[in-house]
Amino acid sequence: MSEGVVLYGRGLVKRFGATVALGGVDLDVRRAEAVAIMGPSGSGKSTLLHCLAGIMKPDAGEVVLQGGRIDGMRERDRSALRRTRFGFVFQFGQLLPELPAEENVALPLMLGGTPRREAVARAREWFGPLGLAGMEGRRPGELSGGQAQRVAIARALVTGPAVVFADEPTGALDRTTGHATMRLLVEATGHNGASLVVVTHDPEVAAACDRVVEVRDGFVVAAGGQHGGFHAGQQAVQQFGQQFGQQAGLHAGQQAGLHGGFHAGAGPVMGASGGAGGVGGGPVEGRAW
Ligand SMILES: Nc1ncnc2c1ncn2[C@@H]1O[C@H](COP(=O)(O)OP(=O)(O)O)[C@@H](O)[C@H]1O
Ligand SMILES: [Mg+2]
Repeated sequence: MSEGVVLYGRGLVKRFGATVALGGVDLDVRRAEAVAIMGPSGSGKSTLLHCLAGIMKPDAGEVVLQGGRIDGMRERDRSALRRTRFGFVFQFGQLLPELPAEENVALPLMLGGTPRREAVARAREWFGPLGLAGMEGRRPGELSGGQAQRVAIARALVTGPAVVFADEPTGALDRTTGHATMRLLVEATGHNGASLVVVTHDPEVAAACDRVVEVRDGFVVAAGGQHGGFHAGQQAVQQFGQQFGQQAGLHAGQQAGLHGGFHAGAGPVMGASGGAGGVGGGPVEGRAW
């Protein structure tokens, strides 16, 4: 395992009957980096994400998280792993409609045994930073699409995961809202020490990531190096933010954060650092968001 790699897949193969969804894919994910997975519909992007995230068992190959193989684990253990070490943001429909937003965010903590009162208190810490102050008690049906995705981002990060997986997380949003939401996702994951693996069709969204991996017919055909190839990551994030941050309705603290107001890993949520103190904090305490 090379330096700083949190999660990797090697030789991943997945077939569905005669369909070869993955033909033998290698992918490294480094600590706190954002990796965009792009490619045509049906090329294997979701299958790759599901194999890396322990949702699906590959037919061949291995998936290693922080030095330990996870692909061969029993479903019960993979389920616990997904709850504690990973976060997920999907396209839409992932929030429980009957629960207020704060309980949707608190849910992964409560499932892990955190008492309800404490879980909700920790969940509430994410609302201000994500531009959701005042929305804590709203049910998903009372939120806009962009707000609902920000609640989903909070839920993905609340446990201090090592890696957040997002499958077309802005696919159901309009362009402007989608870009603003994506910028928050990249920033919030990076600044909490989590890596991000995001499937997207949007080149501007991909440009906000550190790296782009191109998938065709079950194979990785191009993988940009860190800060190379596609776009220089940090610069792209800044441009992206300047371009779309204004329309996002975010308060000044978040705007400031984009321009270096915080440092990766500065907050208490350090899930990707190897396990110590992975749970117990909130979003970058004592900072603007
Ligand atoms: N559960 C499944 N059963 C059968 N075929 C599947 C299943 N999931 C994916 N596939 C097939 O595998 C290929 C890759 O699918 P997928 O990973 O969902 O692509 P993408 O996310 O890039 O659109 C496609 O041909 C798809 O039809
Ligand atoms: Mg897909």
